Amino acid sequence: MTDSIDKIVSLCKRRGFVYPGSEIYGGLANSWDYGPLGVELKNNIKQLWWKKFVHGRDDVVGIDAALIMNSKVWEASGHVATFSDPLVECVKCHSRFREDQLNGACEQCGGKVFTEAKQFNLMLKTFLGPAEGSENTVYFRPETAQAMFVDFKNVLDTSRKTIPFGIAQIGKAFRNEITPGNFIFRTREFEQMEIEYFIKKDTWQENFEHWRKEMLGWMEDVGIDLKHVHEIEIPAEDRAHYSKRTIDFEFDFPFGRKELYGLAYRTDFDLKNHENASGQNLKYREQGDNTSSGEEYWPHVIEPTWGVDRSLLAILCSAYDDTDSSRTVLKLSPKIAPYKAAVFPLMKNKPELVEAAKKVYTSLKKEFVVAWDDRGNVGKRYYSQDEIGTPYCITVDFQTLEDETVTIRDRDTTTQERIKISELDNFLRSKIRS
Ligand code: GAP
Repeated sequence: MTDSIDKIVSLCKRRGFVYPGSEIYGGLANSWDYGPLGVELKNNIKQLWWKKFVHGRDDVVGIDAALIMNSKVWEASGHVATFSDPLVECVKCHSRFREDQLNGACEQCGGKVFTEAKQFNLMLKTFLGPAEGSENTVYFRPETAQAMFVDFKNVLDTSRKTIPFGIAQIGKAFRNEITPGNFIFRTREFEQMEIEYFIKKDTWQENFEHWRKEMLGWMEDVGIDLKHVHEIEIPAEDRAHYSKRTIDFEFDFPFGRKELYGLAYRTDFDLKNHENASGQNLKYREQGDNTSSGEEYWPHVIEPTWGVDRSLLAILCSAYDDTDSSRTVLKLSPKIAPYKAAVFPLMKNKPELVEAAKKVYTSLKKEFVVAWDDRGNVGKRYYSQDEIGTPYCITVDFQTLEDETVTIRDRDTTTQERIKISELDNFLRSKIRS
């Protein structure tokens, strides 16, 4: 675990995980682009999440909704009225800050006098169609969650799920944050992985506890160091407008302890409001067997929510290890590492070794994301793969030509063993199975 964000930012840029956005034009404040390795890591995180919480369960189904929704959604959800942060302005240099993040003096000019706080709505606006009137104003969604409520009836009718069940979604969200920063921690465009889990009201406590444990289990699966995770019970006055109970999972980032994920009991706030605003019946009717009452009610909701970018950052911070002065290692779980293995010919100038190694590489590539490296010496290649978290390095040497075996070197222990080429598939499969 690193205590320096600069080391992470530098590795990310150098090795193609994350670059400053629009860099050739001088960048765009706090926007970041995921490079070739970053997109692999991010996709693997999202796929693992989907596998665990959607494919791995019988009671959760997924959706992928439009990013821009009817503006009435955001009126009914309360976001138009209340999704805001207190904004203050330095009277000397006019820099703007979030009042609750001020440390006494203006970060730009040192001024100590600020305007009265105004509530600043965080939703990003745009216009749909060629006219820019208020009737065409729409918002980029500030959370993925609302689509799960708006699509609730459609999902219920088409999936035939019964309570309790959840709807999951992964996607972009946008917030016009007053003070973004700390690399990819707080940005104006980010991704969320969210589940709205619909339950009977009187079961909310046990379901809350269930999802609390699931979230901890996820962090363990994905390699977030639990020693640096803290559960914080959010007091009523600090909770979002819809929540009756919220836990934040905070993580010791190098720049301080900050929110990583949240778990909220949203009651029936959203379905009730959308029914009232849309005029559509969004109640659930108990049905089926002799024991059911056929009663109709708005299900209550437990919402576990995960930021994708914050996950990636917490994973990188947990995985970064430079305690051995001879190498920097990203100890990423094989389940999410960008490359599952790298394949090398022992020497580049021996065509028979290159040919045999290419055969291994091409065969593994059919199932796994693998890297090829024939530059420099094997030691340098190990160093290079360690730094990007590749868990296994496979070397084809002269013995390979005789007995169809290769060496496989473990990133974390640096130990090597010989293994038959025909066993490589199973070996890697067993390491990445969740
Ligand atoms: N639907 C509930 C909801 O959106 P939230 O706590 O506002 O709750 C959920 O956001 C998660 O999204 C956070 O725990 C965090 O991981 C991530 N997140 C929120 N704002 C973010 C931002 N500006 N940049 C990056 N990630 C953010």
